[in-house]
Amino acid sequence: MDRIRRLGVKGDEALLVTSALVFHGSLLAVLHRLTTSPGDTGIFPGSPHYTEPVSTYAIRIFGDPVLRQRAAEIENVDGRLAHLVQDMIETMYEAPGVGLAAPQIGVERRLFVYDVGDDEGPKAIVNPVISESRGEWEFEEGCLSVPGLHWTIVRPKEVHLTGFDIDGNEISIEADEYLARVFQHELDHLDGVLLLDRLDKDTRKEAMRTLRGRVFSGAEVRGGAQPGALERDTPAL
Ligand code: NI
Repeated sequence: MDRIRRLGVKGDEALLVTSALVFHGSLLAVLHRLTTSPGDTGIFPGSPHYTEPVSTYAIRIFGDPVLRQRAAEIENVDGRLAHLVQDMIETMYEAPGVGLAAPQIGVERRLFVYDVGDDEGPKAIVNPVISESRGEWEFEEGCLSVPGLHWTIVRPKEVHLTGFDIDGNEISIEADEYLARVFQHELDHLDGVLLLDRLDKDTRKEAMRTLRGRVFSGAEVRGGAQPGALERDTPAL
Protein backbone atom coordinates (compact mmCIF):
# COMPACT_ATOMS: atom_id res chain seq x y z
CA MET A 1 0.00 0.00 0.00
CA ASP A 2 2.74 2.37 0.99
CA ARG A 3 4.63 1.40 -2.06
CA ILE A 4 1.70 2.19 -4.32
CA ARG A 5 1.17 5.47 -2.56
CA ARG A 6 4.80 6.30 -3.08
CA LEU A 7 4.47 5.57 -6.78
CA GLY A 8 1.21 7.43 -7.05
CA VAL A 9 0.81 10.39 -9.34
CA LYS A 10 1.80 13.60 -7.67
CA GLY A 11 0.19 16.94 -8.25
CA ASP A 12 1.69 19.21 -10.87
CA GLU A 13 3.15 21.53 -8.25
CA ALA A 14 4.91 18.60 -6.62
CA LEU A 15 6.38 17.51 -9.94
CA LEU A 16 7.55 21.02 -10.65
CA VAL A 17 9.11 21.28 -7.24
CA THR A 18 10.89 17.98 -7.67
CA SER A 19 12.34 18.97 -11.00
CA ALA A 20 13.23 22.40 -9.74
CA LEU A 21 15.22 20.90 -6.90
CA VAL A 22 17.43 18.88 -9.21
CA PHE A 23 20.68 20.72 -9.61
CA HIS A 24 22.11 21.27 -13.04
CA GLY A 25 24.77 18.74 -13.86
CA SER A 26 27.03 21.69 -14.23
CA LEU A 27 27.00 22.23 -10.48
CA LEU A 28 29.76 19.67 -10.37
CA ALA A 29 31.61 21.36 -13.17
CA VAL A 30 33.00 23.89 -10.75
CA LEU A 31 34.95 26.58 -12.45
CA HIS A 32 38.27 27.51 -10.96
CA ARG A 33 38.42 30.94 -12.35
CA LEU A 34 41.31 33.20 -11.54
CA THR A 35 39.92 36.67 -11.58
CA THR A 36 42.87 38.79 -12.51
CA SER A 37 41.14 42.08 -11.90
CA PRO A 38 37.86 41.77 -10.02
CA GLY A 39 37.38 45.52 -10.25
CA ASP A 40 36.74 45.13 -13.97
CA THR A 41 33.49 43.37 -13.31
CA GLY A 42 32.03 46.33 -11.48
CA ILE A 43 31.02 43.90 -8.76
CA PHE A 44 34.06 43.76 -6.55
CA PRO A 45 35.68 47.16 -6.83
CA GLY A 46 38.76 47.29 -4.69
CA SER A 47 38.23 43.83 -3.22
CA PRO A 48 41.18 41.46 -3.03
CA HIS A 49 41.81 38.95 -5.78
CA TYR A 50 40.17 35.68 -5.01
CA THR A 51 40.34 32.13 -6.23
CA GLU A 52 37.08 30.78 -4.86
CA PRO A 53 35.50 28.17 -7.07
CA VAL A 54 32.37 29.43 -8.81
CA SER A 55 29.27 27.24 -8.88
CA THR A 56 26.07 27.45 -10.81
CA TYR A 57 22.72 26.62 -9.28
CA ALA A 58 19.51 25.13 -10.60
CA ILE A 59 17.02 27.88 -11.26
CA ARG A 60 13.81 27.35 -9.34
CA ILE A 61 10.80 27.01 -11.57
CA PHE A 62 7.20 28.08 -11.24
CA GLY A 63 5.53 25.75 -8.74
CA ASP A 64 8.40 25.98 -6.28
CA PRO A 65 7.10 27.64 -3.09
CA VAL A 66 10.34 29.58 -2.62
CA LEU A 67 9.27 31.80 -5.52
CA ARG A 68 6.17 32.83 -3.58
CA GLN A 69 7.83 34.04 -0.37
CA ARG A 70 8.76 37.58 0.49
CA ALA A 71 12.55 37.46 0.78
CA ALA A 72 14.17 38.88 3.93
CA GLU A 73 16.39 41.94 4.11
CA ILE A 74 20.13 41.24 4.19
CA GLU A 75 21.68 42.43 7.43
CA ASN A 76 25.35 41.65 6.99
CA VAL A 77 27.21 42.22 3.80
CA ASP A 78 30.15 39.85 4.10
CA GLY A 79 32.42 37.65 2.04
CA ARG A 80 29.83 34.95 1.81
CA LEU A 81 27.54 37.35 0.03
CA ALA A 82 30.31 38.19 -2.47
CA HIS A 83 30.67 34.50 -3.24
CA LEU A 84 26.92 34.05 -3.60
CA VAL A 85 26.78 37.00 -5.98
CA GLN A 86 29.51 35.50 -8.14
CA ASP A 87 27.61 32.20 -8.29
CA MET A 88 24.40 34.02 -9.16
CA ILE A 89 26.09 35.88 -12.01
CA GLU A 90 27.51 32.63 -13.36
CA THR A 91 24.07 31.00 -13.08
CA MET A 92 22.47 33.96 -14.86
CA TYR A 93 24.96 33.80 -17.74
CA GLU A 94 24.59 30.05 -18.08
CA ALA A 95 20.78 30.23 -18.26
CA PRO A 96 21.14 32.63 -20.20
CA GLY A 97 19.36 35.57 -18.66
CA VAL A 98 19.90 39.29 -18.06
CA GLY A 99 18.73 39.28 -14.45
CA LEU A 100 18.45 36.83 -11.56
CA ALA A 101 17.01 37.28 -8.08
CA ALA A 102 18.26 35.26 -5.09
CA PRO A 103 14.93 33.42 -4.53
CA GLN A 104 15.30 32.01 -8.04
CA ILE A 105 18.15 29.86 -6.71
CA GLY A 106 16.33 29.17 -3.45
CA VAL A 107 17.95 31.91 -1.35
CA GLU A 108 15.28 33.95 0.42
CA ARG A 109 17.23 37.18 0.65
CA ARG A 110 16.73 40.59 -0.94
CA LEU A 111 19.40 40.53 -3.58
CA PHE A 112 19.50 40.43 -7.35
CA VAL A 113 22.11 40.50 -10.10
CA TYR A 114 21.79 41.78 -13.63
CA ASP A 115 23.74 42.51 -16.78
CA VAL A 116 21.94 44.47 -19.44
CA GLY A 117 24.85 44.16 -21.86
CA ASP A 118 26.26 47.67 -21.46
CA ASP A 119 29.88 48.52 -20.70
CA GLU A 120 29.33 48.30 -16.96
CA GLY A 121 29.23 44.51 -16.80
CA PRO A 122 27.35 42.53 -14.15
CA LYS A 123 25.99 44.30 -11.08
CA ALA A 124 24.44 43.22 -7.81
CA ILE A 125 21.94 45.15 -5.72
CA VAL A 126 21.28 44.38 -2.08
CA ASN A 127 18.03 45.36 -0.33
CA PRO A 128 16.67 47.26 -3.35
CA VAL A 129 13.74 49.64 -3.03
CA ILE A 130 11.84 51.43 -5.77
CA SER A 131 11.00 54.79 -4.30
CA GLU A 132 9.44 56.46 -7.35
CA SER A 133 8.02 55.36 -10.67
CA ARG A 134 6.70 57.30 -13.63
CA GLY A 135 4.99 56.78 -16.98
CA GLU A 136 4.06 53.58 -18.78
CA TRP A 137 6.10 51.34 -21.03
CA GLU A 138 5.10 48.24 -22.95
CA PHE A 139 7.68 45.49 -23.22
CA GLU A 140 7.79 41.77 -23.90
CA GLU A 141 9.06 40.09 -20.77
CA GLY A 142 10.29 36.57 -20.07
CA CYS A 143 11.32 34.92 -16.82
CA LEU A 144 13.91 32.22 -16.14
CA SER A 145 11.49 30.71 -13.61
CA VAL A 146 8.73 30.43 -16.21
CA PRO A 147 10.90 29.13 -19.05
CA GLY A 148 9.98 29.58 -22.68
CA LEU A 149 6.99 31.86 -22.15
CA HIS A 150 6.83 35.61 -22.61
CA TRP A 151 4.18 38.28 -22.60
CA THR A 152 3.85 41.92 -23.42
CA ILE A 153 3.43 43.70 -20.11
CA VAL A 154 2.88 47.36 -19.30
CA ARG A 155 4.76 48.73 -16.30
CA PRO A 156 6.14 52.14 -15.29
CA LYS A 157 8.71 53.46 -17.76
CA GLU A 158 11.05 55.06 -15.24
CA VAL A 159 11.92 54.11 -11.70
CA HIS A 160 14.19 55.43 -8.99
CA LEU A 161 15.92 52.53 -7.31
CA THR A 162 17.94 52.69 -4.12
CA GLY A 163 19.83 49.95 -2.32
CA PHE A 164 23.39 48.86 -1.58
CA ASP A 165 26.25 47.28 -3.45
CA ILE A 166 27.95 44.23 -1.95
CA ASP A 167 30.47 46.42 -0.16
CA GLY A 168 27.61 48.10 1.68
CA ASN A 169 27.79 51.39 -0.25
CA GLU A 170 24.52 53.14 -0.94
CA ILE A 171 23.28 53.00 -4.51
CA SER A 172 20.81 55.36 -6.17
CA ILE A 173 19.88 54.79 -9.80
CA GLU A 174 17.47 56.57 -12.12
CA ALA A 175 16.48 53.85 -14.57
CA ASP A 176 14.52 54.14 -17.79
CA GLU A 177 12.82 51.61 -20.08
CA TYR A 178 14.84 48.36 -20.30
CA LEU A 179 16.86 48.82 -17.12
CA ALA A 180 13.76 50.02 -15.28
CA ARG A 181 11.98 46.89 -16.46
CA VAL A 182 14.75 44.61 -15.21
CA PHE A 183 14.64 46.30 -11.78
CA GLN A 184 10.87 45.98 -11.51
CA HIS A 185 10.91 42.32 -12.56
CA GLU A 186 13.66 41.38 -10.10
CA LEU A 187 12.07 43.33 -7.27
CA ASP A 188 8.86 41.40 -7.91
CA HIS A 189 10.81 38.17 -7.35
CA LEU A 190 11.92 39.45 -3.95
CA ASP A 191 8.26 39.99 -3.05
CA GLY A 192 7.14 36.56 -4.25
CA VAL A 193 5.49 38.00 -7.34
CA LEU A 194 5.83 36.31 -10.73
CA LEU A 195 5.23 37.51 -14.26
CA LEU A 196 2.02 35.48 -14.29
CA ASP A 197 0.57 37.79 -11.64
CA ARG A 198 1.02 40.74 -14.00
CA LEU A 199 -1.18 39.20 -16.71
CA ASP A 200 -4.85 39.88 -17.22
CA LYS A 201 -7.20 37.14 -16.06
CA ASP A 202 -7.70 35.42 -19.42
CA THR A 203 -4.03 35.47 -20.40
CA ARG A 204 -3.12 34.10 -17.01
CA LYS A 205 -5.61 31.26 -17.35
CA GLU A 206 -4.15 30.34 -20.71
CA ALA A 207 -0.63 30.51 -19.29
CA MET A 208 -1.57 28.17 -16.45
CA ARG A 209 -3.06 25.71 -18.93
CA THR A 210 0.16 25.76 -20.94
CA LEU A 211 2.28 25.21 -17.84
CA ARG A 212 0.13 22.34 -16.60
CA GLY A 213 0.11 20.77 -20.05
CA ARG A 214 3.88 20.81 -20.11
CA VAL A 215 4.17 19.03 -16.80
CA PHE A 216 1.74 16.28 -17.70
CA SER A 217 3.34 15.70 -21.09
CA GLY A 218 6.70 15.32 -19.38
CA ALA A 219 8.15 18.26 -21.29
CA GLU A 220 11.17 20.07 -19.98
CA VAL A 221 10.21 22.29 -17.07
CA ARG A 222 13.62 23.00 -15.64
CA GLY A 223 15.43 26.24 -16.12
CA GLY A 224 18.04 26.68 -18.75
CA ALA A 225 18.00 27.38 -22.46
CA GLN A 226 14.75 28.78 -23.67
CA PRO A 227 14.69 28.32 -27.43
CA GLY A 228 11.38 30.10 -27.83
CA ALA A 229 12.47 33.11 -25.87
CA LEU A 230 15.83 33.29 -27.58
CA GLU A 231 14.38 33.02 -31.07
CA ARG A 232 12.20 35.95 -30.30
CA ASP A 233 15.01 37.78 -28.65
CA THR A 234 13.05 38.21 -25.46
CA PRO A 235 15.24 38.70 -22.42
CA ALA A 236 14.61 36.32 -19.55
CA LEU A 237 14.83 37.90 -16.13
NI1 NI B 1 12.06 36.28 -13.52
